[in-house]
Amino acid sequence: MLFAPLLALAASVVFAQKPAVKPTEDLPLGAMQAKANTACLECHEARIILQQRLSKAAWTKEVDKMIKWGAVVDASDHDALVDYLSTNFNPDQPAYSPSRTANEESSKRVNAVRK
Ligand code: HEC
Repeated sequence: MLFAPLLALAASVVFAQKPAVKPTEDLPLGAMQAKANTACLECHEARIILQQRLSKAAWTKEVDKMIKWGAVVDASDHDALVDYLSTNFNPDQPAYSPSRTANEESSKRVNAVRK
């Protein structure tokens, strides 16, 4: 069986790289923050969530869509997660303004390389 050692190797490479893909911004504090980090930042960074301004009905659809796509959300956490998202990212909130820090840092690096 060659597969097991290869899988172990592949897994260690993936896990070793994990800290490098730290999301550029964090989900807001709240009772569901930790669970949302686990369930929702597996495939994309937080920004895709932070920039939304959705009604509760739309968040319900969004979460259900993500579950269909593979997000692991415990049935008993579903409603609390929708509440958490629709409390923080609803149409009454001011528009999302992206943090530019990451871009400034990378353009500094690009300029440094160009010099
Ligand atoms: C299995 C992978 C996966 C997981 C887990 C996941 N998403 Fe997504 N999500 C996607 C993909 C793929 C897209 C489309 C990405 C794109 O357009 O770049 C997306 C897009 C989104 C969008 C943008 C709107 C849209 O529908 O395209 C939002 C908001 C979102 N996800 C929220 C969530 C939330 C909240 C969770 C946790 C409950 C979550 N995602 C978990 C894969 C995932």
